[in-house]
Amino acid sequence: MLLTAADISMTYPVPGKARKKTVQALGRLEIVQQGQGVGLMGDSGAGKTTLGLILAGLLKPDSGQIVFKGKALSEYKGKQWKELRKRIQVVFQHPETAFDPRWKIGKSLEEPYRIHHQPMDLITIESLLEEMELPAGILFRYPSQLSGGELQRVAIARALCLNPELVILDEPTSMLDPLTQARIMGLLRQSLGKRNIAYLYISHNIHLVKAFCNGAYALDGGRLIPLKLERS
Ligand SMILES: Nc1ncnc2c1ncn2[C@@H]1O[C@H](COP(=O)(O)OP(=O)(O)OP(=O)(O)O)[C@@H](O)[C@H]1O
Ligand SMILES: [Mg+2]
Repeated sequence: MLLTAADISMTYPVPGKARKKTVQALGRLEIVQQGQGVGLMGDSGAGKTTLGLILAGLLKPDSGQIVFKGKALSEYKGKQWKELRKRIQVVFQHPETAFDPRWKIGKSLEEPYRIHHQPMDLITIESLLEEMELPAGILFRYPSQLSGGELQRVAIARALCLNPELVILDEPTSMLDPLTQARIMGLLRQSLGKRNIAYLYISHNIHLVKAFCNGAYALDGGRLIPLKLERS
């Protein structure tokens, strides 16, 4: 088993308000093995992004348990915690907020290496850019000089550059036109498949979930409901 999450609950403090916002994902979510794709669907506001960030260790739940590779997330400390941050990556819904606008793309792609005190591996970066059908010259441009689709493909390259085992894809193409969506999902599937990387694919699009995942859940009313992905 790669990852399990059980009975997750988290409360956001709401400034100036006594009532807080509680997000729940009761029940169980499983990502069985390396390379497996699992969909996560649900209405807007259901808590999909929140759950994704909790699974990546970027938000701390108030209750529930997440186990990654046989060990509870809460037990990863110090060096192991840093290593875990490398093993689980996130591709966010809005790529324009995931990059520092003052930095050229090259500097943003160096960042994961800087954080993990590793020398930048330009060969890996260049081959990932090529896989994402981006020219190497993109390294010298600013985020504002790229289209949304290009910037999201850079975000994917950045998420893959340190060899993660699991990637949380939070509606990675929802801001794009249908053709670009399908193209980027195709590139993404190839890159993830080739590296045997598991992914949680958060999406509103059942067709893409069916095409891209082996299993799926709906987050509905705070409960995780396994979905049957019957192919039409
Ligand atoms: N930082 C925050 N502070 C307070 N409340 C928040 C915060 N982030 C999210 N929420 C609330 O938590 C709930 C779940 O939000 P979340 O972003 O996880 O939903 P979602 O399922 O990803 O929705 P969407 O499909 O629109 O992206 C919403 O009611 C939202 O308003
Ligand atoms: Mg969301």
